[in-house]
Amino acid sequence: MEGCVVLQVRDDVRLAMLEKRRYGVAVPTLPLLVAMLTVAVCLPLWRLSTCPGAAPDAALVAPAYLLLMPGNATSLPSPYPLHKLPPLDPHHLIDLRHFAFRFNNFPCNETASPLLLVLVHSAPDNIGKRRAIRETWGGRRDALRLLFLLGEVDGADQQLRLERENLVHRDMVQGSFRDSYRNMTYKHVMALKWAAYFCPGARYLLKTDDDVFVNSPALLEFLSQDLSPWGARRLILCVPFHAATVKRSYRSKWRVSPSEYPGRVYPTYCAGWAILYSPDVAFLLYSEAQRDRYFWIDDVHVTGTLAAKANLTQTDLGSLVLSYEQVRALEAGGNASDVGHFLFGAPNLELASIHRLWEAVEGRASIPPS
Ligand SMILES: *[C@@H]1O[C@H](CO)[C@@H](O)[C@H](O)[C@H]1NC(C)=O
Ligand SMILES: *[C@@H]1O[C@H](CO)[C@@H](O)[C@H](O)[C@H]1NC(C)=O
Ligand SMILES: *[C@@H]1O[C@H](CO)[C@@H](O)[C@H](O)[C@H]1NC(C)=O
Ligand SMILES: *[C@@H]1O[C@H](CO)[C@@H](O)[C@H](O)[C@H]1NC(C)=O
Ligand SMILES: *[C@@H]1O[C@H](CO)[C@@H](O)[C@H](O)[C@H]1NC(C)=O
Repeated sequence: MEGCVVLQVRDDVRLAMLEKRRYGVAVPTLPLLVAMLTVAVCLPLWRLSTCPGAAPDAALVAPAYLLLMPGNATSLPSPYPLHKLPPLDPHHLIDLRHFAFRFNNFPCNETASPLLLVLVHSAPDNIGKRRAIRETWGGRRDALRLLFLLGEVDGADQQLRLERENLVHRDMVQGSFRDSYRNMTYKHVMALKWAAYFCPGARYLLKTDDDVFVNSPALLEFLSQDLSPWGARRLILCVPFHAATVKRSYRSKWRVSPSEYPGRVYPTYCAGWAILYSPDVAFLLYSEAQRDRYFWIDDVHVTGTLAAKANLTQTDLGSLVLSYEQVRALEAGGNASDVGHFLFGAPNLELASIHRLWEAVEGRASIPPS
């Protein structure tokens, strides 16, 4: 699955994007599609919104998402029709009936429409990871708003430390559920809730984790130039997994019992460490999650099960993700000419990697254009 990821230079992606648009207009005949599929088995390109396999045919014919243009950016209804939610919705989080934000911040109140809202799943103890992100890719810039999402901690000391950290940085949100592995779906749905209630103007939403490198300058450029500065609809951009088998072995960290999930395979879902949503998708998935039964593997549940219920299709980030080998190559003194051609580093990065990747990106940024 991860083997699908290859590095291409940015111009190839642009070309592929153009091809995708062309195919969106002139629908290729079925034989041609089949031929394209055979060639592209493990080399997902933009024009193929999904790898072949579990995907319904319809998803391959038309692009899965729509880009907004000046003509319809303002005429469309709000992507977050909060009035459609039940009156008690603010106090509910899936099956939790007394949900509240223990502490909250409102970075979107001053600027109505940031290009990108980044919501980072973070564990309470990961103070160093949060610091590294603030010092590197998550540093303040106009087009981007960033928040760390946390659950509740057991000790009063630990709570006090979190509150102090938040007083200094004003970039943390704590929900009233225990911060634990099996509660990760609460965190993900809290992210969608937060966006809907407190940042409805953001054009795009990124859900990521605190051990990921986001090439934020390249991402902002990609969103406004390769996608659209006015935003998009029905967009889920990520690294999708197709037909993943449900783990039943007791040795697996991801073991799921048949009563938790009866099926044998999961629907196509996104790797949870970098998911770009358009705002309408965030709302669809949120309102679906509020009605649905809790399932603890958050990426499967939100981007797989709920997305399928809402008839949404995942689009593959493909070559815009660095592999570990590429991360190591960049770290080892780097091939500066490759920097800028990716949006995300691999997950589970060390702090030092995040800093070195940022230096590589910054170094690149300071080279004057020739
Ligand atoms: C906005 O307009 C563009 C160009 O006319 C069109 O392709 C797109 O589908 C429209 N988007 C929506 C959400 O209606
Ligand atoms: C998840 O959070 C709820 C609400 O705080 C709590 O009752 C429950 O024990 C937590 N579950 C786990 C596995 O930590
Ligand atoms: C920001 O706006 C939200 C509603 O959009 C409101 O609930 C909140 O109190 C505001 N916060 C501040 C500090 O202005
Ligand atoms: C999804 O598509 C199916 C089949 O076309 C349709 O019956 C269903 O109502 C759609 N669901 C949503 C949420 O749009
Ligand atoms: C960078 O990569 C290009 C093409 O992959 C290669 O030709 C070049 O030698 C590399 N430069 C360095 C400094 O490694």
